Amino acid sequence: MAGPERDASLPRIDARAKVTGRARYTGDLTVSGMVYAATVRSTIARGSVRKVDMRDALTAPGVIALFDHASFPRLMSDDGALNAKPGEKWIPLQTPDVFYAGQPVAMVIAGTLEEAEAAAQKIRIEYASPIAFADAAKNPYFPPTAIGEPLQSSRGSAPEGSVAVAARYTTPYESHNPMEPSASLAVWQGDQLTLYDTTQAVVATRKVVAHRLGVPEDHVRVVCDYVGGGFGCKGFVWHQGFLAAAAAREIGRPVKLVLTRSQMFTSVGYRAQTTQAIKLSAGPVGQLQTVQHDVATVTSLVDEFVESAGLLTRLLYASPALGVTHTVTPHALGTPGPMRAPGKASGSFALESAMDELAWKLDMDPLELRRINHADRDDAHALPWSAKNLLECYQRGAEQFGWDRRAPAPRATRDGDAWLGLGMATSVFPAYRSPAGARVRWTLEGVVEVASATQDLGTGTYTTMAAVVAEALQIPPQRVRSVLGDSALPPAPVSGGSQTTASVLPAVLAAVKALREGLIDLARTDPGSALFGSDPEQVSLREGSLFTGHASESVSALLSRHGLEFFERIANVDNQNGKTEYSFHSFGAQFVEVRVDEALGEIRVLRCLGVFDVGRVVNPLLAKSQLMGGMVWGIGMALTEETTYDPRFGRVMNDNLADYLVPTHADVPDLQVVCLDRPDFRINPLGAKGIGEIGIVGTAAAIANAVYHATGHRFRDLPLSRPRLMREFAAPRLN
Ligand code: MOS
Repeated sequence: MAGPERDASLPRIDARAKVTGRARYTGDLTVSGMVYAATVRSTIARGSVRKVDMRDALTAPGVIALFDHASFPRLMSDDGALNAKPGEKWIPLQTPDVFYAGQPVAMVIAGTLEEAEAAAQKIRIEYASPIAFADAAKNPYFPPTAIGEPLQSSRGSAPEGSVAVAARYTTPYESHNPMEPSASLAVWQGDQLTLYDTTQAVVATRKVVAHRLGVPEDHVRVVCDYVGGGFGCKGFVWHQGFLAAAAAREIGRPVKLVLTRSQMFTSVGYRAQTTQAIKLSAGPVGQLQTVQHDVATVTSLVDEFVESAGLLTRLLYASPALGVTHTVTPHALGTPGPMRAPGKASGSFALESAMDELAWKLDMDPLELRRINHADRDDAHALPWSAKNLLECYQRGAEQFGWDRRAPAPRATRDGDAWLGLGMATSVFPAYRSPAGARVRWTLEGVVEVASATQDLGTGTYTTMAAVVAEALQIPPQRVRSVLGDSALPPAPVSGGSQTTASVLPAVLAAVKALREGLIDLARTDPGSALFGSDPEQVSLREGSLFTGHASESVSALLSRHGLEFFERIANVDNQNGKTEYSFHSFGAQFVEVRVDEALGEIRVLRCLGVFDVGRVVNPLLAKSQLMGGMVWGIGMALTEETTYDPRFGRVMNDNLADYLVPTHADVPDLQVVCLDRPDFRINPLGAKGIGEIGIVGTAAAIANAVYHATGHRFRDLPLSRPRLMREFAAPRLN
């Protein structure tokens, strides 16, 4: 696969369409007869709707229909048969109950978006027996599992080591802010629905929406050409799609529903806050003896999602005794959901901060402490790693970053009025895969179409699919056309858990192989072909022709002679190989330099270096931008991002991009990304693992650790925001 002629860093083939505005995102689409939906959202945290007064809205300009919980079409709840993950099992607009501020309690359909929004403001909701957000919480409980892993586990026993760290870390609520808000456009033709939807999973969206509407799955087609960022908020199926579809069916017109930025804070999942108690004990040279990681997090009143922050602790380092627990407390909030490296991003902040604290207690290099505790196998699953080059990540990173030039004490390096410091942390993320299908079609015009019901979240799926086909068929990538984002194509999994490359590309390769064999068979069994009777082992396919010895024939000539418009093969692969024999994970090491101005309460990240072991890198250009994106988010997680709720109404107090701060270019230094590019052929024939999430794992801890090195202040609560720093440095203390 690694031929020198391969253009590994093929720039993304949809880039021109995107920068010229030709790429049409779901919210951009229009169809004739289309009308607009706007929803009215609950302003209380918990209680019920007593009365929906629509009198003023009824006479507002352009209004076509108004719905409340009594008049909205009935939808099917879950009956256990639903083999896909809705964002939450609870369905809005079915009963008067209010479970969180921001839940839809009424809907307006009008001729224009402006008319719909104006009319929505004229609907008056009266509530019965409101309960304050702070009082609506239920008791915490111990959930058994998440993502197929035990949330409560312990193993081994060992005497406490002589050196111990016991500390409590917190991570805040974080909200999803992709550039593209969630949106749906529902178009019915008879009893057939086409749902244009912002989704990381066209196949799962079809399942959930069909189920909610009570129609067979083959009556629903879900289409999504482009996604303007998913990161988990479009991975589960939230309500906007089926609400739009149900309303469209009811009124007999296509309906578009686009969430506002504010609604993105309440209706598409979010990263739940965590409080994490970590206890580590180690022997005199740093070998971990006991590890305990107890996570307390939250879910909604209507469904369970667990920010499983303790799971990575089960396998990241070797320790003879280890325990992990999780508790969740239901609150009057929308249901939390996956956000880039769910569990891992928040868990790594706690564990990797605690490891840093332990290193300082031992007067050890934090990098050396991690080397000493390297896990040679996955002790959580009692399996060998399929491949693990973490030690090489540490070494490459340390060399490139100049780790050995780091001052051996905190608060030792001045830069004018500020302090400089270096920190590091380990990254880890499971290398997930799921069954996937793909179709490869060679057309008479010589264009090869590769198709799968996968998605391109902006990650580069269009490009990697085309590149793999071009390389395998020895044709220029310009002659390959990628088709995706359509549930009618061969099924592929949710583009979540960083699994698209590792799941879909093996299916594409299998389809290409079958296509190649099929074409060779067609030629060698055809008396009219120059390749008639040839040995299939001796036939090659390149640049659009089949060759054997001196004989050759173009695929176009072969297809024409057989009267074929195209020749295609479909492959479905289960991608389960090796799952019982190996533990598949990606690894990395992150290094950060910060400058901390205590008087200004300001942390500037000066340098970031991430060295990653993610198997073979299919496209270095796209891979670098994925990993970099994760690191950028890690900077936001460390320094600025925090969603705040008011204690009485449970409303988000910073539900806009002026108050909820994501990193801007000025906040982000020149990030360095290195991939070892060591193929892991135990996972798939490409040797490739996912890269979408691991970039954020460890970044926030590396930053907090660098801040400790700079200042001698240990920050255990994210974000390290300016107000928090001002408070901390106004009353200095040394740990
Ligand atoms: Mo991801 S947070 O699994 O989209």
